[in-house]
Amino acid sequence: MKEIENADAILCLLSDQMDRSVLSRAKKLKAVGTYSVGMDHIDLDYCKKNKIEVVNTPGVLTRATAELTLALLFAAARRLPEGEKICRKNRFAGWAPDFLLGQELKGRRALIVGKGRIGREVAELFKAVGLRVDFVTRSDSRQNLEKKLSKAQVLSFHIPGSKENHHWLDSKKIDLLPPDAIVLNTARGNIIDEAALSKALSEKRIFAAGLDVFENEPDIPKSLRELPNVVLLPHLGSATVETRRNMAVHLVQGVLEVLHGKS
Ligand code: DGY
Repeated sequence: MKEIENADAILCLLSDQMDRSVLSRAKKLKAVGTYSVGMDHIDLDYCKKNKIEVVNTPGVLTRATAELTLALLFAAARRLPEGEKICRKNRFAGWAPDFLLGQELKGRRALIVGKGRIGREVAELFKAVGLRVDFVTRSDSRQNLEKKLSKAQVLSFHIPGSKENHHWLDSKKIDLLPPDAIVLNTARGNIIDEAALSKALSEKRIFAAGLDVFENEPDIPKSLRELPNVVLLPHLGSATVETRRNMAVHLVQGVLEVLHGKS
């Protein structure tokens, strides 16, 4: 991509790796604008060192992502994909008292990892449904965190996919969750050790999961695709007409401000 050499700004998607090898080719670069809130695909250290502004789209996708998290929760708790599959395959054999029993949400304990805009919006939606909400905080001692995890019937992730958060949910933490736990991820795939999660789901050590993001997107491992107790979505968190339009406006305005100053 020769054009990059003379670019004042780069507009990219979350699937474009903006690493040192790409950025260093753009000698005149003043701004990198990403059509996402997540910035884990951009070498932020390089940008800081070289005085390149990074523009992302916070705020405008908070509601859409929070709503999708709630949708995943309902789908996982009430086993909607399993029911839908049965109907589409014309295998509905009639109502039965113990057919596809799920979980009622009212009164359940939810633990939210990430107290930023999206985490807080999700908390409001969860409370509206009757869940009891708690957050993981930086000041939690290890013992306190373990106690919170052992009570988390819903565990929902809203933190960046940074190096520090890599495999935040590993097999040790999964083992602490109660058997009726539902794990939700609408943040970044690398936050969860996918292999450990698939194992726990296949052994029914937890109830279900709802995943909108994956460790090696767009690849979704067979071990997850074959499980009935996981709801899988193709990274749809911000995918509403309103939000995608607002993201575009926010991004272009932000980049123009860097290049020409505020109008
Ligand atoms: C983002 O903007 O980072 C989201 O993951 C897009 O849905």
